[in-house]
Amino acid sequence: MKIGIDTEYAAEILTQGGLVGIPTETVYGLAGNATDEHVVKKIFKAKNRPSNDPLIVHLHAVEEVKKYVRDCPDELYDVARHFWPGPLTILLPKTSTIPDCTTSGSELVGLRVPNHALTLDLLRRIPFPLAAPSANPFSYISPTTAQHVLDQLSDQVDYILDGGPCGIGVESTIVSYLDGKLKIHREGGISREAFESYGIKTWNGTAATMANVPGNFLKHYSPLTPVQIIDAVNEIPANVHHSGLIYFGDSMDVSGFNEVKNISPQGNLNECARNLFGTMRNMDRMNLHCIYILRFPNKEIGRALNDRIERAAVKRKIKST
Ligand code: TXA
Ligand code: MG
Repeated sequence: MKIGIDTEYAAEILTQGGLVGIPTETVYGLAGNATDEHVVKKIFKAKNRPSNDPLIVHLHAVEEVKKYVRDCPDELYDVARHFWPGPLTILLPKTSTIPDCTTSGSELVGLRVPNHALTLDLLRRIPFPLAAPSANPFSYISPTTAQHVLDQLSDQVDYILDGGPCGIGVESTIVSYLDGKLKIHREGGISREAFESYGIKTWNGTAATMANVPGNFLKHYSPLTPVQIIDAVNEIPANVHHSGLIYFGDSMDVSGFNEVKNISPQGNLNECARNLFGTMRNMDRMNLHCIYILRFPNKEIGRALNDRIERAAVKRKIKST
């Protein structure tokens, strides 16, 4: 059986150089030994991922950081202690224990302590950290259940730890530290507002204007069906035959659509995050002409959701222009 909750077995596989699907609070990861070049290359191959797109390295505790980085400012340690375990990835100068291929040649490594009991238990059982990109084929939507991983990568993984549906549903926020402020490289599970209310300043600019990191590809998180973003209910085109609609909040006139899903009738952005990727996946299997998605309010986790749907819509924009 490929799916289960046996962390001892998962640890054995990883120790032998195998790959394991792991649950996290954000999305499922495709994990292997981050310090073993051979294993890291296997991860890139399994995902069909270009080698210039670095992998995040997962640890079980903040105390582990010093094993893998040359330097970490005290202020960043404070941030890490506050937000870990949690959906935060911090870029720091790596030691040679982390091979260059894990970071795609960058001097910086992205580190994070995920907030999921099974994966923390697994990490404590092994003497090395885990490189884990999201467990989807390159540029597809990230998986938020063990079944999603099995559906697409069953031949590439040796085992999948089933930790249930992901509690957050959107990837971690990636930050670096520059002149006393956090620079956000990817919006994610921890919002800019959360950093600010903890008392740490952030540089202005959205993930899109900071798209200078390797791997921050414009087309990403994308279903095969074209995606179109709608800014307001009255913008829905007249002919939506054979199309799907993903929206949130008060019910609206959805006549004409083949498939409709309200991912949070209360309009709760955290609930939207939990449900968005799974709903996009389901609709992608329905042979629809287009999936329309209502844009989220540009605040808190809504910013990360807008980033993902904008990337998902890129293919469509290219087609129609
Ligand atoms: O929530 C998450 O972060 C999930 C779970 C599994 O932890 N992981 C995830 O990994 O989303 P992935 O590989 O799908 O996205 C990681 C992105 C890369 O595409 C890259 O843009 C950025 O993180 N990244 C990783 N290491 C980096 C580095 N050393 N320098 C710059 N960007 C980096
Ligand atoms: Mg990914």
